[in-house]
Amino acid sequence: MDIAEAIRSRKSIRGYKPDPVPKEILKEILEIAIRAPSAMNTQPWEITVVAGEVLDNIRKGNVEMLNSGAKPHPEMAYKPFEGKYRERQVDLAIQLFKLMGIAREDKEKRAEWTRRGFRFFDAPVGIILSIDRSLIDSSKGELMAIMDIGSIAQTICLTALKYGLGTCINDQGIMFPEIIRKFTHIPESKLMGICIAIGYPDWDFPANKVETGREQLENVVTWYGYA
Ligand SMILES: Cc1cc2nc3c(=O)[nH]c(=O)nc-3n(C[C@H](O)[C@H](O)[C@H](O)COP(=O)(O)O)c2cc1C
Repeated sequence: MDIAEAIRSRKSIRGYKPDPVPKEILKEILEIAIRAPSAMNTQPWEITVVAGEVLDNIRKGNVEMLNSGAKPHPEMAYKPFEGKYRERQVDLAIQLFKLMGIAREDKEKRAEWTRRGFRFFDAPVGIILSIDRSLIDSSKGELMAIMDIGSIAQTICLTALKYGLGTCINDQGIMFPEIIRKFTHIPESKLMGICIAIGYPDWDFPANKVETGREQLENVVTWYGYA
């Protein structure tokens, strides 16, 4: 698969086959993905792979938190989206709910969809990307290491395609950091930035048929020095 084809064919996968992913394959993917660029080659990523009983415990813990009414509190929070960003977020939700047959007023099905995200979309493996907190101070704009996390996240997702694996970058899985820490040894000194669900796609799962759009190129690019 050439690079352009890989980039075009990658999409977020939210339904997986239960088949386990061999450690050797994950090692190969990560071996390749750590070639991702980082600021001054600092390579700030710390990678935690969770599968089997550990991931099952995390799923259970996340869902229990949700069911208890606890408010999700990701370590890399974002403010609610507004304007065109909110519109795109809503567009995505409408598409996914339509594919999944979830009516707007169907609270239980909506809640189950949310739980699915907190269960790492029932993928057999989760990859958590963390960085040392000493690298970031958002009040001073010291956020470069977050770029590096994005860089390796996309590289993992693209490399996974080579092995027939699907991925979904998400923050839902790590929105209750205390649950992750309960079942792993990620210390408080590390900030969990993002996680990736990974496994063999279930192509019959309706949400996997989603085709997300992108803004027209001319609306996002400004050219100088070109006619
Ligand atoms: C930083 C980041 C966080 C995301 N968090 C979630 C998430 O919590 N739940 C989810 O279903 N998808 C999540 N996604 C996937 C996006 O919704 C998806 O990338 C976007 O809709 C574009 O679709 P595509 O990946 O299929 O091209 C996230 C993606 C990124 C890059």
